[in-house]
Amino acid sequence: MANVVVMGAQWGDEGKGKIVDWLSERADVIARFQGGHNAGHTLVIDGNVFKLSLLPSGILREGKLGVIGNGVVLDPWALKGEIEKIEGQGVSVGTHNLMIAENTPLILPVHQDLDKMREEAAGKAKIGTTGRGIGPAYEDKVGRRTVRVADLADEETLDARLDRLLAHHDALRTGLGAEAIDRAALKAKLMEIAPFILQFAAPVWKVLAEKRKAGKRILFEGAQGALLDIDFGTYPYVTSSNTMAGMASTGTGMGPGGIGFVLGIVKAYTTRVGEGPFPCELDDEIGHHLATVGHEKGTVTGRDRRCGWFDAVLVRQTCTVGGVTGIALTKLDVLDGLDELKICTGYMLDGQKIDHLPTAAAQQARVEPIYETMPGWTGSTGGARSWAELPAEAIKYVRRIEELIGCPVALLSTSPERDDTILVTDPFSD
Ligand code: IMP
Repeated sequence: MANVVVMGAQWGDEGKGKIVDWLSERADVIARFQGGHNAGHTLVIDGNVFKLSLLPSGILREGKLGVIGNGVVLDPWALKGEIEKIEGQGVSVGTHNLMIAENTPLILPVHQDLDKMREEAAGKAKIGTTGRGIGPAYEDKVGRRTVRVADLADEETLDARLDRLLAHHDALRTGLGAEAIDRAALKAKLMEIAPFILQFAAPVWKVLAEKRKAGKRILFEGAQGALLDIDFGTYPYVTSSNTMAGMASTGTGMGPGGIGFVLGIVKAYTTRVGEGPFPCELDDEIGHHLATVGHEKGTVTGRDRRCGWFDAVLVRQTCTVGGVTGIALTKLDVLDGLDELKICTGYMLDGQKIDHLPTAAAQQARVEPIYETMPGWTGSTGGARSWAELPAEAIKYVRRIEELIGCPVALLSTSPERDDTILVTDPFSD
């Protein structure tokens, strides 16, 4: 039996929420391994709408264990708020269904301040972050000066961590013209929330190993997307974590051998929020059509998503780096009714044909897509639950995508409804 990692294979917003929910019904444990409350997905269960940012999706289903791994950056107050909100919707959250790795770094208000101040100071060169403090929190983690969950249990350690952290931040704040941090107020805030967070603290690496030994199914729930990966994405227009499947291992403590199937979530066209290169972006009627029919607005920030044709070059690349076993293709129905469809099969760069996205930012901004055109379809794919219900042209489009990215379709999602899904390969039993 395989454990499964779900990874966004584009710039995030591929429709992971529905697929993760679908898979979490089959899983025993659902673990987040990177990112923080910059993620956001909406889940509809029995007609109730839930919005989750930090909590693993499985928390909504009875009898599942939700895990926040050490690869996540955790805003304790955001977590408390999210828990209170879903409890208000009738979901019980407690130590029976939530566990947080003791070595998880915290996002503090100083990180949010810095995120916002830097974006403002950057003007046109801004990244377009979600303003949640994600980048600064990861910086402090690798700078070895962060406060981690376990530090909340010991006042002396907390004091030492705060001294080191604030010495760094106060210097930065002075440079940016902001006031120094009120250390006493921050410490008091942390001491106040500490018991709430500590009740969930556990050696996650050990619990996951035990679950694996007991034959439990573990689903690793990635956030954002592969092109926002700090190493392999469109740097610097990326998030600050590794969003690739490999992070599931270091972001939870489950050795790489414990990970079986990597499911890449791929939208049938391309979108991105925030700044940065986007070779297939459409600034025309088709782009507008995709944005409108696909309801392309960011879940967390409400920003409009930029839209464009399917870019097979990018997905081939992210499937390779991410080690994707099979993809879940989402939002095919958004393409219903278009006369013709284009797929990007390569790029032109300074008169040369290339088959991958180059690393240099200036080159990424200069590449021109090479398109191949395919006929659209008149029938509807919306709500299809078998291949037989799909128009022939839609099947051809899907097959062509598989061919170009070098990866098979394991799941095909044809509407936001959980049951409107065509299963080709069950990732858990592959
Ligand atoms: P940060 O993660 O807030 O630092 O934002 C860095 C970049 O990642 C920005 O372009 C954001 O729009 C993008 N981003 C962060 N989280 C998500 C997400 O969940 N979906 C899509 N884009 C995201």
